[in-house]
Amino acid sequence: MRVIIESDADAVAECASGFFQSLLLHKPDVVLGLATGSTPIKLYQKLIQKFQQGLLNFQQATTFNLDEYVGLEIGHPESYRCFMQEQLFRHINVRPEATHLPQVESKNLLRQGADYDEKILAAGGIDLQLLGIGSDGHIGFNEPGSSLASRTRIKALTRVTRQDNARFFNSIDDVPKLSVTMGIGSILKARRCMLLATGPAKAKAIQAMIEGSVTARVPASALQLHPDTIVILDPDAAKLLQFKDYYQDSELLQRELESTTTET
Ligand code: GLP
Repeated sequence: MRVIIESDADAVAECASGFFQSLLLHKPDVVLGLATGSTPIKLYQKLIQKFQQGLLNFQQATTFNLDEYVGLEIGHPESYRCFMQEQLFRHINVRPEATHLPQVESKNLLRQGADYDEKILAAGGIDLQLLGIGSDGHIGFNEPGSSLASRTRIKALTRVTRQDNARFFNSIDDVPKLSVTMGIGSILKARRCMLLATGPAKAKAIQAMIEGSVTARVPASALQLHPDTIVILDPDAAKLLQFKDYYQDSELLQRELESTTTET
């Protein structure tokens, strides 16, 4: 895992947007895995800014979101489809038909997961999967106890997650109990994963994910098994990391190496 500790949430977003920018430059028909939650909003703002400045072009890009709530009416402002529309899609030139989220309106919800995984495969697989992390260590809506090999499927939300997400609804009773989420196994198939975390509420989950055992108790710890995962943190989210100094030293060396490699 490449662990990058930036000075604040804005720098986290700037750093993440740089990875998106270089990927889009090298591969205009990129397949992006996208995430919701408050953490990626700053990154989406940076991507919009760069698009407006002519530095990014999403014309040929395809996107697949990690997850969607089950049970909200179509057009509900807290549905992840609306979130993506508002926070990113309507501001950039991605083709609407190239943006995908799990279809939760389908009568055959049980089949939806497999269909979604097949669609991702047919698109050539995900080049870069963006992730946030839940305070209980979940990624997507893969709650503690999720199989580390799980595929996209229906998943019940824990009380902790429903409580965490209640701030977006009138009350916890309005937070859906079910979701369709990419599985951990599906996420691990992405060529690169990039997880962002900011704020002290994420510090425990981040420490367990990076320095704890690989365990279904902390679904994000499965990323230790991925060959190309970048974790970008602010100091609050990084505060419990035991090997923080080592990650910072390694990152300096990595950047030095990258600059000499590009110069030659
Ligand atoms: C939700 C999403 C996750 C996200 C998490 C953290 O549960 N399904 O994908 O990582 O929230 O959200 P936030 O960034 O708001 O803390």
